[in-house]
Amino acid sequence: MDKVATTLQSVNTPAILVDLDIARRNIQRFQAYADGHGLKVRPHIKTHKLPALAEMQLRAGAVGITCQKVSEAEAMVAGSLEIRDVLITYNILGREKLEHLAALARKVTLGVVADNETVIDGLSAAFAAEPAPLRVLVECNTGADRCGVPTPEAAATLAQRIAKAPGLVFGGLMTYPPANGAAAVESFMTRAKVFLEAAGIAVPVITSGGTPSMMHAAEAPVTTEYRPGTYVYNDRSLVSRGVCGWEDCALTVLATVVSVPAANRAIIDAGSKALTSDLLGLTGYGHVLTRDDIAIDQLSEEHGRLVSEGPINLKVGDKLRIVPNHACVVTNMVDAVNVIEQGEISGVWPVAARGRIV
Ligand SMILES: Cc1ncc(COP(=O)(O)O)c(C=O)c1O
Repeated sequence: MDKVATTLQSVNTPAILVDLDIARRNIQRFQAYADGHGLKVRPHIKTHKLPALAEMQLRAGAVGITCQKVSEAEAMVAGSLEIRDVLITYNILGREKLEHLAALARKVTLGVVADNETVIDGLSAAFAAEPAPLRVLVECNTGADRCGVPTPEAAATLAQRIAKAPGLVFGGLMTYPPANGAAAVESFMTRAKVFLEAAGIAVPVITSGGTPSMMHAAEAPVTTEYRPGTYVYNDRSLVSRGVCGWEDCALTVLATVVSVPAANRAIIDAGSKALTSDLLGLTGYGHVLTRDDIAIDQLSEEHGRLVSEGPINLKVGDKLRIVPNHACVVTNMVDAVNVIEQGEISGVWPVAARGRIV
């Protein structure tokens, strides 16, 4: 059970496979684009949650990492001495989180975001007596309608509050735009920057993100930094958007056929607890590599149903590799991933920040 399998055939399933050669290529491809356009890269690690992959991203040229949660950042920092610059792109609230944040800030260069005064005031109270101020960026809504201040004017007002708050320094502007949002980012951020500079406040960083439009990041030249996450693995949702091909998908779920109850139907041992029920607007729960004719049309927790229009041509015991709809949520389902290099399993890596959701 705990032995490292040496071949794909011997891996205990369902299991997550990470092809490091593909991940490395994905990392280098975007880093080269960013370097060519004078953009800094700060990958979002929620996709892999693996300190060793973050190190690969840093060695390729990333300036630091992005995390979504304080505990996620703690696990990544504990897992690698190379991770020394972290941006947490989340409104942080509550005594316990703030205490952990302050402790983390004593170890590494840390930044966080805020889109409201309550968060800023909480951060200020927690950092007023700390040895160094906390860097706080204003989160801006450039069209995704999740968090973020709605206007450049509101961004400038919040930035001024940060600049005056004890224990804090204004770190810049952050957004997570919708796909194809470069024009909106450019217009929002340029205006916010003008307001702030007129008020005598410099904007050291303007950070944007998202894999679907990453190869268009430079179309918002006001941006100084980009945070891609899923790009390291890619997934079925990105293939369906035309962002990449199956050959660029580094994460797959390895599953075993456990039953072939009908000529056009087979059941695998990966259900929603491995593939997740995330559809991301797609039909079906994943893509079986090399079998375009098969649909994964139903999941229960531990069963996945495969159907095909013609004979399914599978037998009990067959192993299949599946590209999930959404790689990031699959990562969070397992304690460890099987790493592949040059087609062979080269290790089993614990998913250090798995389940770190607070
Ligand atoms: C704040 C923030 N930045 C960056 C990303 C990375 O986006 P993607 O996985 O599309 O590259 C995400 C994804 O959820 C995010 O929430």
